[in-house]
Amino acid sequence: MIKSNGLNKIRIAVFISGKGSNFKNLINSSNKRNSKFQIGIVVSSNSNAEGLKYSKKFKIKKIINSVNTNLAEKILISKLKKEKIRIICLAGFMKILSKKFIKNFNGIILNIHPSLLPKYKGLNTHSRAINSDDQYSGCTVHYVNSKLDSGKIILQKKVKILKKDNSVSLAKKILLQEHILYPKALNKVLSNL
Ligand code: GRF
Repeated sequence: MIKSNGLNKIRIAVFISGKGSNFKNLINSSNKRNSKFQIGIVVSSNSNAEGLKYSKKFKIKKIINSVNTNLAEKILISKLKKEKIRIICLAGFMKILSKKFIKNFNGIILNIHPSLLPKYKGLNTHSRAINSDDQYSGCTVHYVNSKLDSGKIILQKKVKILKKDNSVSLAKKILLQEHILYPKALNKVLSNL
């Protein structure tokens, strides 16, 4: 049997700021047989992000960059180019990428958002869904453009909101679905390249 050496895999970068459960899940998915992608780098806006432990554990190069100045953007773009990154997956990345960054990256940028977009862009999605008495919430993977949580939707997964749910229990249920949805959406994008 010929083992994959990763030569033909699409190189992606995952951008995180916090726990990194989606990052970990994308690592697992990249390590599956027949996976079409590999994670070249993880970028964190925060040097204390819990999710950076997976960079150590799985030996994935890390970059700390808040993408908050022209210079920081420039440095990051050049690193992404050097690493031959074609897709960025935002996964709980708490910074907004500028129009200029998106244009200069010249690749695909995806994000996962914990609501059924276009409902509840931005923060506190779970309490907003509960307070609106919605029957369902869920998660969305979408392309990133310069407007917050507004790019073309790739895939969504609905989750039923039960009477007993609060924002914590709903977040937990949705996060489990995010872990299924993100690799699925990424593979859909890859199969169209
Ligand atoms: C997820 O709910 C994601 O949808 C949102 O931020 C959270 C990140 O979780 N954008 P994790 O850091 O991947 O565990």
